[in-house]
Order: sequence, then C-alpha cells, then structure tokens
Amino acid sequence: VTTPIEFRSDNASGAAREILDALAAANAGSARPYGDDDWTGRLTDTIREVFEHDTATVFSVLSGTAANSLSLAALCPPWGAVLCHESAHVLRSECGATSMFSGGAVMKGLAGDGHRIDIASLAQAFEDTRWGDPHHSQPAVLSLTLPSDFGTVYTPSQVTSLAALAKTRGVRVHIDGARLANAIAALGCTPAELTWRAGADIVSLGATKNGVMNTDAIVCFDQAASDQLLYRVKRAGHVASKMRFQSAQLNAYLTDGLWLRLASHANRAMVRLASGLRDLGVEFVDQPEVNMLFARVDDAVADRMERGDLLFYRLGPGLIRLVTSFQTTDAEVDDALQRIATALTGN
Ligand SMILES: Cc1ncc(COP(=O)(O)O)c(C=O)c1O
Repeated sequence: VTTPIEFRSDNASGAAREILDALAAANAGSARPYGDDDWTGRLTDTIREVFEHDTATVFSVLSGTAANSLSLAALCPPWGAVLCHESAHVLRSECGATSMFSGGAVMKGLAGDGHRIDIASLAQAFEDTRWGDPHHSQPAVLSLTLPSDFGTVYTPSQVTSLAALAKTRGVRVHIDGARLANAIAALGCTPAELTWRAGADIVSLGATKNGVMNTDAIVCFDQAASDQLLYRVKRAGHVASKMRFQSAQLNAYLTDGLWLRLASHANRAMVRLASGLRDLGVEFVDQPEVNMLFARVDDAVADRMERGDLLFYRLGPGLIRLVTSFQTTDAEVDDALQRIATALTGN
C-alpha cells in the first residue's frame, strides 16, 4: 500500500500553519462587521507597504473568478472588449463572469507563444479594431495572466512593453495573479516592479492556492476603479460580515514575506520534480517556470502512474498536468519520481 502523492492542483493543498494561527488569533473576542475592524484597517497598510504604493486599495473576495470579473468590470464598459491570451482563465474557465459583471463586455483571445500575449498580436488587435464604430466592441482592458494557466510568466519588462502599447490606446491593464507569489518568487523581482511600476492598474491577488484558507483579493492602483469596487464587490455578494477573518489571513500571508516563502517552496519542489523527470526522458510542453508542469506521456504510462497512487490531472490523450504546492516535500517528490520511473518501464 502506497500513500497518494498530490500533484493535481495547488487548490488541493491545505492552509499554512501561520494562516491557521492568524485565524485563531482573530477569533478572540468580537469585532465590528463588514470590514470596519482593525484587521481590515491594517490590511490596507500592509498592501501599501508590500506593493510600495501610497494609495493602493484592497478588496477581499472569495475566489479568483470574483477578483478577475469584478476588477475587469470596474475597468471595462459594457460595450468594451477585454483582450487576453487565448488560453487565459478569464476567457476559458470563468463561465462568462466578466461579461455578466460588466453588463456585457466581450473577451477576445490573442495569440502568443508560451501562453503569453506577444506584442505583435496586441498591435494587430489594435490595428484590426474599428475605433469609435458602434458596431464593434471597443478594447478597454488588457488582461495578463501572470503566471499563465500553463505556468509561464511575463517578466517585468514584458509587462512594461505590453502595458505601454495598451496605454497608447487608452486601454487599461489588469493582471490575473491567481499565482502572483509564484511568479514574483521565480522572477526575483518586487511586487511593485511586476505590477503598477510596469503599468498595471489592477491586480487579482490569489492567495488560496498558496496556503491561505479561503480568500483572494483585488489590489487596485486606480482611484476611479476603486470607487466603483466599493459598490461592485457588495452587489456581487463579496462583502463578508466577518471580514476580519479574511483580512487576518491576508495580513499573515503578506507579512514578513510568508507568501513568497510559501511560493518559493512550491517552485523549488517543481524544480526538483522537473529535473528528475528530465532525467527520466519525459517530454515537457513548456519548461516549467513556477509550480506547474505539463508533460507528454503515453496514456498507458499515465494509467500506471494513477495505479501507483499519483494524483494528477489528465488534460487529454497523452497530456498530463503536475502541480506542486507549499506542502509538497522533497521526500514526496523523490518517491513520486521512483513511481514514475516504474510506470515508464511498464511494470
Ligand atoms: C490563472 C487562474 N486565474 C484564476 C483562477 C480562478 O480562481 P477560482 O477557481 O478561485 O475562481 C484560477 C483557478 O484555478 C487560475 O488558475
């Protein structure tokens, strides 16, 4: 009997000890509801400090989908278009939430290698637009998924170039940072360098995939969008009565670099896994840059891996996804590599 080893998703991981401690501490006594509490007050200061931005605002929401769709709705008029990569989560996996919250905005998928929008396809999208023609949706937001759904990252300079081109057309910039900490840890840059200093107006700050129990957040660098979000977040039902528990988690997450330590751990586990898989001759779709790996293995091998108690997703014939988390241990990675070696030999 073997123990299952978890590579399905970082969503399958638990909550970090520090987060549970913060929740327990916030549970002492009572506090004013709906964000009028000390933890939520402190969260704004924490965000401003971590992102080095004096007027940034923050809104806690339950999910990445809520963070994305509400922030995009705050930047995009009903007749607008959100430009994103053709593989982006906002386009493929959110059931039209952005269109609903924005009152009708459409999503347009752009091409680009490595699941990154390339500057030429953004320029082409602008070229193809009939600006000012009411028969056509008007590009209003560029949404960058960072890291992408396939674990690739944009560098600060790539974000800067895309954002600069977007701004020439008055197009605002959103980052879907469901795994932003993994990107920052991998790039070794500061949160500011990858976001507002590179031209981002708003960021969906994921936390749940990286050790937080049950909250993500919107970080807003734009006053007009922030003014709207006050009401939009409430209308969407995301103003929690006991918001202090969300704020306490996010404060702990962002304090003393916990978020980057947890993400670095997950990224390092992937480096170890990928290096072992390379040695076994496994072919990758892209080289993993954070904590996600897409590999080509025969279905018979994948069947044997499953029988060997490895937990992972099969994305189609011959294609699997492996994801590490802040909880993945070196011992688990080494054990998994042995099981995969066995699966590859057909035993
Ligand atoms: C890149 C990306 N964006 C957004 C989300 C949405 O998060 P949620 O499932 O919490 O709505 C996910 C979740 O997997 C994601 O991978």
